Amino acid sequence: MRRVGILLSGRGSNMMALVEQARGYEVALVASDKPDAAGLAWAVERELSTFALSPKGIGKLAYEAALDRALREAGVEVIALAGYMRLLSDALVATWRGRIVNIHPSLLPKYKGLDTHARAIAAGDTVGGCSVHIVTEELDGGEVLGSAKVPILPGDTPDTLAARVLIAEHRLYPRILSEFVNR
Ligand code: GAR
Repeated sequence: MRRVGILLSGRGSNMMALVEQARGYEVALVASDKPDAAGLAWAVERELSTFALSPKGIGKLAYEAALDRALREAGVEVIALAGYMRLLSDALVATWRGRIVNIHPSLLPKYKGLDTHARAIAAGDTVGGCSVHIVTEELDGGEVLGSAKVPILPGDTPDTLAARVLIAEHRLYPRILSEFVNR
């Protein structure tokens, strides 16, 4: 069984989907750069191993060194970013080359970065979605492992579209992660 470490910064709904639909992998660690992240509390309640540390005050280098140590100590083989809103350093990406995946709320290569739903609506797109990709040094630029399309409806706001895409994320991510760790 492959051991996965999940990194999150917020409510952690994708982490919950990865935990609840785990097949072919087990969640060995849930880690956050935000010690008060809602998702972290959920993981603690579930008695999952957790790690929380803010880079504030100690700097990115020391923060990532501690994170890397915690991941290794937990026996993590693959890292899944799930709403982790911080850029990993090139050094950390290189250390874990090809073993970090991320879910992004757009049909990559469209709309890398932030505000994906607002940009899709502003462009007049009729289809949006989400993608799971390998993390490289290029923001949202690594190989796409799988994606799911979602209709953009007349009158959609970034919030209504985000809610529809999130449902697709929760279906897509566990399936693609399972395929990835066992490929
Ligand atoms: C998700 O929509 C995820 O795709 C997005 O943040 C949300 C996190 O929600 N990720 C990014 O924008 C990454 N750049 P969650 O905390 O409930 O999983």
